[in-house]
Amino acid sequence: MSGNIVLISGANQGIGFEIAKQLSVIPNYHVLLGSRGLEKGESAVLQIKNVGGSVEAIQLDITDGQSITAARDLVETKYGRLDVLINNAAILLDFQVNADYTLGQAMQDTFATNTSGAANLVETFLPLLKLSAVPRVVFVSSTVGSLHTFADFKPSYTMTKYFAPAYACSKAALNMLMLLYNVQYQEKGWKINACCPGFRQTNFCDYDDKAGPVEEGASVAIELATLGKDGQSGTFVNMKGAIPW
Ligand SMILES: NC(=O)c1ccc[n+]([C@@H]2O[C@H](COP(=O)([O-])OP(=O)(O)OC[C@H]3O[C@@H](n4cnc5c(N)ncnc54)[C@H](OP(=O)(O)O)[C@@H]3O)[C@@H](O)[C@H]2O)c1
Repeated sequence: MSGNIVLISGANQGIGFEIAKQLSVIPNYHVLLGSRGLEKGESAVLQIKNVGGSVEAIQLDITDGQSITAARDLVETKYGRLDVLINNAAILLDFQVNADYTLGQAMQDTFATNTSGAANLVETFLPLLKLSAVPRVVFVSSTVGSLHTFADFKPSYTMTKYFAPAYACSKAALNMLMLLYNVQYQEKGWKINACCPGFRQTNFCDYDDKAGPVEEGASVAIELATLGKDGQSGTFVNMKGAIPW
């Protein structure tokens, strides 16, 4: 198949779904909508097909090595390469910490998805990305993972009052992972970047009415997913531009 083959993890709902919807209607983009539950993925695909998107569901649990390998084999057989990988799937467990569920356990569980899961996904798909003319890898991160923002905190800055250590550390580590891959592949023409979608109304924040529309949250990831050969690499950005590391 000519055009761009895109794989998005955790795309059956929230920001991942929105990225899938918006990318799949761009000419020459075909989206593989990753979902750990295939049924949820299929129903998301139906919604996107109703608006004319080029999309199909793919079972993908990023904490399950067999699921990642099976997804890689399927993409290889069907398309022979991958052009864009969007690491979007993540969890937030900090608010479940209590006497029986320690912060240490929450950190291990959070890292298993947000960081190690993303790393396994990239590693497994490297051989297929290498076959793309302009491989692009997008890490959906968060400003909450910005060390500088917390080091330079102002009492008035509400975001730094957000105490979610497992989540924040997992995203700071994800940013480092992005930079490490960037060092390896930037000179070969790859476009590897991290972004923050901003505070968005999704399941993640219990559809908080102070959060912005999810549709807008997808825009920065779309920009990074569609970069051409002169595009940026090794950046951490939101809709307004660079985020301090
Ligand atoms: N919403 C915000 O305000 C906000 C702000 C900054 C950054 N972000 C980032 O944006 C990304 C998307 O978040 P969201 O707000 O869209 O959250 P969401 O609505 O909760 O969606 C998360 C997605 O990840 C999937 N997922 C979780 N664990 C998975 C696993 N092991 N394997 C595969 N998929 C898995 C979920 O699948 P199920 O449906 O099966 O649970 C779901 O599809 C995350 O990386 C998050 O950190 C969000």
